[in-house]
Amino acid sequence: MRRNRRLAALSASLFVFLAACAENAPQDTLEPKGPVARDIDNLIDPVFIVAGVVFVLVEGLVLLAMFKFRAKPDSPEPEQIHGNTRLEVGWTLAPALILLAVAVPTIATIFDLAKRPENPIRVTVTGHQFWWEYRYDDLGIVTANELRMPAGRPVELTLLSNDVIHSYWIAPLAGKTDVVPGRQNRMSFSADEPGEYIGQCTEFCGDSHANMRAKAIAMTPADFDAWVASQRAPSVKASPGTRGEAGALLFAQKGCGGCHTVEGVSEGTIGPNLTHFASRTTFAGSIFDNNDANLRRWLRDPLGEKPGNKMIIPGAPLTPDEITELIVYLNTLR
Ligand code: CUA
Repeated sequence: MRRNRRLAALSASLFVFLAACAENAPQDTLEPKGPVARDIDNLIDPVFIVAGVVFVLVEGLVLLAMFKFRAKPDSPEPEQIHGNTRLEVGWTLAPALILLAVAVPTIATIFDLAKRPENPIRVTVTGHQFWWEYRYDDLGIVTANELRMPAGRPVELTLLSNDVIHSYWIAPLAGKTDVVPGRQNRMSFSADEPGEYIGQCTEFCGDSHANMRAKAIAMTPADFDAWVASQRAPSVKASPGTRGEAGALLFAQKGCGGCHTVEGVSEGTIGPNLTHFASRTTFAGSIFDNNDANLRRWLRDPLGEKPGNKMIIPGAPLTPDEITELIVYLNTLR
């Protein structure tokens, strides 16, 4: 009976331990993909080692005390150590020295990370329930959900909130920074290599907090320049007589433009700017890959797919034909 219980406890703890290992874990701070994340990771290793040594030492002594000095029915009262100056000074000083040793590299890293980068791409990031807006201050680009950046060059983010507290986190590239209404926070980071780096909002911000993902896409400098040029170009108008044009009419009719900007068409600011929607790989807070099937799901029932979000379609639900026309229109917004 007792053996079974021990076995159960052992396998439970082993299970918890193994649950921490995953083959495909894109939000892994222990695999840094940029200099800022690497600085933080370089701090994690020594602090973890110090903490590990302390843990093994303390737990070892506890176990030793438990088994070796266990009270027996006829054992006398153990020797009392209350008021032993040498011991008390020792166990006050030792932890203080350990914390001091940990504090030196920690504070140095904090100062390193607070340095402003040279020649950054400056982006104002605004947290909304439940998506991220990116404004490239010097490039005149407004986009959503995906932070595009050239690999090897830092981005400097000014973080604002439109409503409640969010927290911005691209796990493989940097630590978390809170996004607080009425405050401007700043962070910067860069990516070593082109690639997609996954993150998410890490401050509970409402019903769809878990549906507020974040994504940084690092590109080669040439690809980034091409992206900048395409984002600055006016979006292409749907050709007359096509389903795309019908979708554009529907977009106006249904009042979509009241919340969404499409440059030259509408000026809404409650939802993401859709001027170049079709150039994005994901939508709706990066919870969906940008394809027709997902757009159909989304336009059929946005509140069901993402509870608490602000996308309320007047006269919803849309008919399947209306949805098809809107999808064709969205696909023209390159
Ligand atoms: Cu935004 Cu959680």
